[in-house]
Amino acid sequence: MDLAAIIHETWAELAARRGAGQVADYIPALARVDPTKFGIALATPDGQTHCAGDAAEPFSIQSISKVFVLALALDRHGPKLFERVGREPSGDPFNSIVQLERDHGIPRNPFINAGAIVTTDHLIDDRPVDEAIAELLALLRTIARDDTIMIDGEVAMSESTAGDRNRSLAYFMASFDVLNNAVPDILNGYFRQCALALSCRNLAEAGLFLACDGTDPVTGQTVVSSERCRRINALMLTCGHYDNSGQFAYEVGFCGKSGVGGGILAVVPNRASIAVWSPGLGDAGTSLLGSAALRLIAEKTGWSIF
Ligand code: DON
Repeated sequence: MDLAAIIHETWAELAARRGAGQVADYIPALARVDPTKFGIALATPDGQTHCAGDAAEPFSIQSISKVFVLALALDRHGPKLFERVGREPSGDPFNSIVQLERDHGIPRNPFINAGAIVTTDHLIDDRPVDEAIAELLALLRTIARDDTIMIDGEVAMSESTAGDRNRSLAYFMASFDVLNNAVPDILNGYFRQCALALSCRNLAEAGLFLACDGTDPVTGQTVVSSERCRRINALMLTCGHYDNSGQFAYEVGFCGKSGVGGGILAVVPNRASIAVWSPGLGDAGTSLLGSAALRLIAEKTGWSIF
């Protein structure tokens, strides 16, 4: 199969629709991103990465960071983490608060904002926030093989300025004694992880361990055990697109995690890690063109996991 050709054809078939959807405007720094950007990168276990369009340009990975934070938090705490966060799809939008009251402050999964705030709390653990964020950045720089990966300070600031919903979620959970660290410290970490800037190439390469039983085939680094890798992929499949997860599984059939910056990381076990970026979002806050690109790639490769 000519994967390079598939990636280029996919990009070319959708290029005319660049700009479709609504750029996230509740975070002011994201509202300023050029809506016509469109990149695709596909990394395979043999170490090759095929790219098309704006695949070299860093963008704000937002909620896609929740996957890497989950991997690190599980490494620190193991399954005990799941005493504080569930493993079920929420059926609600990513920033919804409604379920927290019914479930005594325990979020339904680690990918909705409330659940990610819990995993960030566990990543921080009993050390300074800066140390936890440095660990996350070091992991990404290693597995993406790019020491220039940074946190965009302007986006992080903007997250904080527009962060009252996340503060509400965190203080609400704190009222049930679900969090260990102080809310401002946890959110300081959460806002910075969301502001990580990676290109599609970086992201596809960083996600490759998830397609390879937890070990990055290029660097040889075991990020998580194969059992844990399967479980993270299962959560991406069932919860990675919030209240659009069923639709994404139905139409694309890859494990996936979206971000409001317009990126999606998709994992096809034993085949590839794919990153797409187009800032225009659909109703569930996930990239319109990015989802369409993954659907086309699934069709052209026949790689749906079902
Ligand atoms: O906390 C927020 O609302 C954003 N920083 C991240 C949300 C997000 O990416 C949802 N994904 N589609």
